[in-house]
Amino acid sequence: MTAACTAGHDDALAISHIKSRGGSFYETRVAAKAKGPESCLLCHGPGKIADIKVMHGQ
Ligand code: HEC
Repeated sequence: MTAACTAGHDDALAISHIKSRGGSFYETRVAAKAKGPESCLLCHGPGKIADIKVMHGQ
């Protein structure tokens, strides 16, 4: 999700938001995996507070 979403959302605020929620930048797969899964869909999944489909439809 970090890789896909930062293609567009790449300002400092967006990047710090993503980093603080488990997103990894320029890390090895092993290091990224060790941090555990990205938590993005807790808030950005369907029907959640920042549903991606709803946000991109605005
Ligand atoms: C605790 C809830 C929560 C989690 C977890 C979360 N987000 Fe968000 N995110 C939000 C909210 C709320 C917004 C603001 C939505 C709005 O603009 O109203 C937001 C905004 C964003 C934006 C738009 C920023 C901009 O450019 O304005 C991006 C991109 C984003 N999140 C990506 C991610 C990614 C990738 C992850 C996982 C690594 C993630 N988020 C995890 C709640 C969350």
